[in-house]
Amino acid sequence: MKARVYFSPNTLDEIDLRDKTIVVIDVLRASTTITYAMNAGAREVIPVGSVDQAMKIVGNLFSTSTILCGERGGKRIEGFKLGNSPAEYTKEAVEGKALILTTTNGAVALTKAKHARHCYIGSFVNLSATVRALSELSDLSQTGLVIICSGREDDFSLEDAVCAGLMLTKLSEKIPEMELTDSARTVLSVYREYGHDIYGTLTQSEHGKYLTSIGFADDIKTASEIDSVPIVPVLEQTVIKKKISF
Ligand code: MLT
Repeated sequence: MKARVYFSPNTLDEIDLRDKTIVVIDVLRASTTITYAMNAGAREVIPVGSVDQAMKIVGNLFSTSTILCGERGGKRIEGFKLGNSPAEYTKEAVEGKALILTTTNGAVALTKAKHARHCYIGSFVNLSATVRALSELSDLSQTGLVIICSGREDDFSLEDAVCAGLMLTKLSEKIPEMELTDSARTVLSVYREYGHDIYGTLTQSEHGKYLTSIGFADDIKTASEIDSVPIVPVLEQTVIKKKISF
């Protein structure tokens, strides 16, 4: 089974991801937030790439149980009900609701995965659950594994690479015959360098510093809590409806 990592979704062609097993990681913050939302009982999350598209979908649905969520520049989009802070995604706010979510990088990465065989949303908060879900797939050796780090501004982000490195470290304990591409070996070594202090690494990352500067320091703490949410959100084509619970 071959494991490959991409450091940004932007150059990826969705056709190249057809029939692959994919994990999309956006530690700060979309994959953490989606995991919180599904754990709090959201009926579904529909990730979309643009604000216009989000408005169009909500307009077509005519439903009071559908809410607009997302960020630009890390802040809630004007007129939207929720931003992209996991703290907002409580049971009261999202239970039974369909969430149309647009974020700068994470939601874009998810839109590329619509032809995947399996697509899981991974982060530190559901790390072991994601590894377990992957290791229980009966067809992983045929599909191979592609981890998409959502990155930041079309570029590499340290927090996603460290998370991918920890995920592959744990997965290789379960699947020792896993074949590592150069990108996979790179995240393993990034994890060895930075994995001893996940919270510190997130705080010192470029996006962590930015989030702190706009008042979201608590989200960094939340996002660094390994295995605090034992579920794996699953994207099926264009919608996250299902979650695997452990
Ligand atoms: C993104 O998708 O770019 C992020 O989740 C940004 C954020 O921190 O809200």
